[in-house]
Amino acid sequence: MQAQIRPAVPSDLDAIAAIEDAGMRNGWNRAQLAEEFGNSKSRILVARLKGQVAGHVVGWRIAGEVHILDVCVAPSARRQGIGKQLVSALLKACGPGDALLEVRKSNVPAIALYTRMGFEEVGRRPRYYSDGEDALLMTLERP
Ligand SMILES: CC(C)(COP(=O)(O)OP(=O)(O)OC[C@H]1O[C@@H](n2cnc3c(N)ncnc32)[C@H](O)[C@@H]1OP(=O)(O)O)[C@@H](O)C(=O)NCCC(=O)NCCS
Repeated sequence: MQAQIRPAVPSDLDAIAAIEDAGMRNGWNRAQLAEEFGNSKSRILVARLKGQVAGHVVGWRIAGEVHILDVCVAPSARRQGIGKQLVSALLKACGPGDALLEVRKSNVPAIALYTRMGFEEVGRRPRYYSDGEDALLMTLERP
């Protein structure tokens, strides 16, 4: 399903925080999300479906690379292509350059999404998460 993707505005914060709370294990809290709105490196996009925020993505552009920090789709809106649309839109919004991200090694849906989009596992970060789980480091080479 085609969602409407646009840059997030501060009034989206409640909806973004609610999706994060419902959809992400140890996700970002409202204060952490609010901080991103004041971070000049940060790009935050939201997907709207049927008039409501259904997902978001957060990335930083640093030293010519795009670091994807967060992508989350409301549980009821998954498997409709919204995650893919959000990541594609973020990469486009950030301009050229390779992309990288960390993902929990147990996060099958997210790893499937990134692999489908051309990301490859290039390394592991042992005990990267506060609960001790390892992260996979995945990158996408882009012109
Ligand atoms: C990961 C996540 C963002 C995917 O969002 P989504 O909107 O459901 O993903 P899409 O519908 O765009 O999926 C695109 C492709 O990714 C793969 N994929 C996505 N979810 C999958 C799943 N549960 N199982 C297997 N493959 C999956 C499929 O190849 C899918 O294409 P298809 O539906 O044509 O088969 C979503 O599951 C989510 O919000 N998870 C919780 C938050 C999270 O873990 N974020 C990642 C942090 S690194």
